[in-house]
Amino acid sequence: MEDKKEVSFDDLTPLKYANVGDRREYYHREVLKQSCENITDDPNAKVSPETGFITVSYHPRDHDICSQYEKQSTIYELPLSPSIITLTKCQETGRDIVKKSMLKDKLMSDDMVKAAENECCVHSYMSHENVIKLHNYSEDETEFALHMEYANKSRYLQELIYDHHTPIEEEQELQIYALDLIQGLNHIHNQGIIHCDLKLDNMLAHQEEDDEIPIIKICDFGLSHVIDPQLGNKAIKKNTIGTWGYIAPECANNTHIGREIDIWSLGLTLYEMAVAYKPTQVKGYEYGQGELPFRKRDWRNRSTELQDLIKACLEVDPEKRITVTDALQHPYFTTEV
Ligand SMILES: Nc1ncnc2c1ncn2[C@@H]1O[C@H](COP(=O)(O)OP(=O)(O)OP(=O)(O)O)[C@@H](O)[C@H]1O
Ligand SMILES: [Mg+2]
Repeated sequence: MEDKKEVSFDDLTPLKYANVGDRREYYHREVLKQSCENITDDPNAKVSPETGFITVSYHPRDHDICSQYEKQSTIYELPLSPSIITLTKCQETGRDIVKKSMLKDKLMSDDMVKAAENECCVHSYMSHENVIKLHNYSEDETEFALHMEYANKSRYLQELIYDHHTPIEEEQELQIYALDLIQGLNHIHNQGIIHCDLKLDNMLAHQEEDDEIPIIKICDFGLSHVIDPQLGNKAIKKNTIGTWGYIAPECANNTHIGREIDIWSLGLTLYEMAVAYKPTQVKGYEYGQGELPFRKRDWRNRSTELQDLIKACLEVDPEKRITVTDALQHPYFTTEV
C-alpha cells in the first residue's frame, strides 16, 4: 500500500543555500532521480528513454481499497465542487491519510471525467517531499477516490495571507517556502508535467512537532497537462486552465502551453507571500502590462534579489521568463544577506 519504497538520500550531498542555514536540507533532485530506478510506486510507470519523461497511463486499483481507510472528518466540501476531501485513518498502518473523492454526478462532461483520470495518473507519478504523495487511486460508478499524504497545517499560507492579510515577514522563512515550492515544481517539470493551477490554495503546509516552520507541498493535479516532446515540449491547451488571477498572459491566445505558465503563477504567489496582496491590486497596474509595481512602503525590508526573482518569473514574454532550474540558482538563494 502506501510508501512501499523509501527513497535513499545516502549518496547525496545536500545543496547548501546561503541563508537557509540548518533549517532545511535540499538535495540535487537530478542526482536523486538517476540514483532511483523507479521514482514512483506505480509498477506501470515507464520512463521514456528518449525524453526521460514518465509516460502517463491510467491504472486504477480495485475500489475495495477504500474499505481500508476509516473516515475521521471532512476537511473540504463545497456545494458546487465535485471534490470532497476527508481525513481518514489507514487501518493497517494507523496513519492519517486524506481521501479526495471526485463525485461522478458532479463531473458534467466527458472532458471533466478525462480530467479526473488524468489527475489520478499524473499525481501518482510524483515522488518528492514538496509534492503531496498519492498512495493509490480507484473508481466505482459513483466516484474517483484518491488516497494521499495528509498535510496537517494545510491552510497555513491561505490563513496568513488571504484571511489575515499578513505577509511572511521573516525573509529567511519566505526564502525557505520559495525553495520548497521551486524544488517541488522542479520535480513536476522534470516528470514532463505542467501543473497549470499553482496558487496558495494548492500549496499545503505540514509541520511535525520538532519542525521550526512548516514544509510546503504542492497538491491538486486536476488541471495538469502532460508535455509532448513532439510539440517542442509543449502541451495542447485544454478547455480549463488555471485560476483567474494566476494565469500567465500567453494562455489567452496560445493553443499550446509550456512549463513557463507555472513560473508565472509561482511569481504571483511569491509576490503575494511577500506583501499579502496581488500586483493587480496596486492602483494603476494592469495585469501583465508595464512595470511590475513594488510599493516602497511594502518592499523596503525586502531584498532586491527577491524583487528580481519575482520580476524574472513575471516576465511577460514566456521565452524570456526564468526557468525552474535557473530559479534554483538565483542570487536570492545564493547571495548571503
Ligand atoms: N492532502 C491534503 N491534506 C490536507 N488538506 C488537503 C489535502 N488535499 C486537499 N486538502 C484541502 O482541500 C482543499 C481542496 O483540495 P484540492 O485542491 O485537491 O481540490 P480541488 O480539486 O481544487 O477542489 P475544487 O474543484 O473545489 O477547487 C485544499 O485547498 C486543502 O485545503
Ligand atoms: Mg485545488
